[in-house]
Amino acid sequence: MKPFSEACERNRVPILTVLARVFADRRRVLEIGSGTGQHAVSFGAALPHLAWQPSDLPHCHAGIRAWLDATRLPNVLPPVALDLHDPVWDVGRFDAFFSANVVHIVDWVGVEALFEGIARHREADCRVALYGPFNYGGRFTSESNAAFDAWLRRKDAASGIRDRDAIDALARRIGLRLLEDNPMPANNRLLVWGG
Ligand SMILES: C[S@@+](CC[C@H](N)C(=O)[O-])C[C@H]1O[C@@H](n2cnc3c(N)ncnc32)[C@H](O)[C@@H]1O
Repeated sequence: MKPFSEACERNRVPILTVLARVFADRRRVLEIGSGTGQHAVSFGAALPHLAWQPSDLPHCHAGIRAWLDATRLPNVLPPVALDLHDPVWDVGRFDAFFSANVVHIVDWVGVEALFEGIARHREADCRVALYGPFNYGGRFTSESNAAFDAWLRRKDAASGIRDRDAIDALARRIGLRLLEDNPMPANNRLLVWGG
């Protein structure tokens, strides 16, 4: 049974519009926190020049595999286990990284670990694309994002919508430069770094 995320179905075309451009010259993408696997098969099908490597905590792998089995895309690889908190990631090197709706779920140590892991596994020339809601100057961009943040923190006090500039500071620490901040539907953003 394939897990289904309504949000993935809604956001995949707007995200793809940007990825098609910023990943046009990329070869190997590590997706961090693939979730259902819908993004992996959707973007893998639309961008066949990319070897797309899904990853997530092991409990998500059966669902991701169900999507892979249903689509049989030669360029989308079986999921690998990747916990951001692990000091070693058993993955190779990549010239692109994509992660959707993860940095507001994991704790701040996990967010820092995401960029430290990218630093360990990046090619010299690399692109990083992060999708999700972000704050600006400590402010929510909408009432719905403020309500979402309160809901997240009720479930887990360590989660919550991150400030775009705080994330950018982590990216700059590993030598990345913010190239684009794309508005997305439903008060989300797609941030793109290069370096
Ligand atoms: C809100 S879901 C987003 C899933 C998918 N990217 C999407 O946009 O629908 C957050 C994802 O982060 C993953 N995740 C949570 N903690 C993690 C960790 N410590 N390391 C790696 N992934 C983690 C979850 O398993 C889940 O798939």
